[in-house]
Amino acid sequence: MANIVITGANRGIGLALVKSYLVSGDRVYALCRNPGQAEQLARLVDNSAGQLTLHPVDMADGASIDAVGQALGDTPVDVLLNVAGIIGGRTDSLANTSFSEDDFNDWRNAFEVMTIGPFRLTQALLPNLLAAQGKVMTVSTQIAASTWNHGGMYAYGATKAAVNRLMLSLAIDLKSQGISVAMVHPGYVQTDMGGPNAEITPQESAAGIKAVVDELTLETSGSFFKWNGELHPW
Ligand SMILES: NC(=O)c1ccc[n+]([C@@H]2O[C@H](COP(=O)([O-])OP(=O)(O)OC[C@H]3O[C@@H](n4cnc5c(N)ncnc54)[C@H](OP(=O)(O)O)[C@@H]3O)[C@@H](O)[C@H]2O)c1
Repeated sequence: MANIVITGANRGIGLALVKSYLVSGDRVYALCRNPGQAEQLARLVDNSAGQLTLHPVDMADGASIDAVGQALGDTPVDVLLNVAGIIGGRTDSLANTSFSEDDFNDWRNAFEVMTIGPFRLTQALLPNLLAAQGKVMTVSTQIAASTWNHGGMYAYGATKAAVNRLMLSLAIDLKSQGISVAMVHPGYVQTDMGGPNAEITPQESAAGIKAVVDELTLETSGSFFKWNGELHPW
């Protein structure tokens, strides 16, 4: 039984990951903004016999991130999955529109949620990760890669490219302490974000991400993977 921490756990890929780790018999700490409104998670808690607990964390709120570190105490963390994400405002091309201060505030929030938040959570749980020689997997996107030859989606692509670089740096810095760090493109997934016409189900994505986490070693730390286990160019 491993101890698993998952952000964005109340819906989409995060919820599918919660279910997948519960089926494997692992202990899951599910982080979400509003546990009181997380109905699917609440049902899972009722049937989990203590295998699942919910913790309020807003990835844009550093105090709530630090608080979950305190809530976990000296619990070893085998896997931290940074899943929470948002599009981060308008996705338009500058060729067709202009961006206002409101838009830039959306961008700032996107960086809080998808770039600074995962770093802060890794920092808050570092003693727990050290205790388990754990793994950190951050859900990124193919849009972060320089091989993604499309414009627009400025904030989303920039925050994910930034978190990829940030996680690579953490992989280098934490390798000597036995912690492996990597990033994964989850596929084009049928969630609120991906929409109903996306290519794979959240269950397929979660199963793939879980396998990528299982296979991650200190030797492959710092890599950007696809959900199917292949390396993603970036
Ligand atoms: N779906 C795809 O095709 C696709 C493709 C590439 C990458 N991704 C990435 O995969 C990850 C999961 O996406 P998804 O498709 O599952 O999206 P989703 O269904 O829209 O779910 C997003 C999750 O992130 C949470 N979240 C948003 N802002 C948050 C905040 N400030 N603090 C804490 N949690 C917050 C949401 O919680 P609330 O319910 O509270 O809003 C929700 O649990 C994201 O990082 C996304 O960028 C998805």
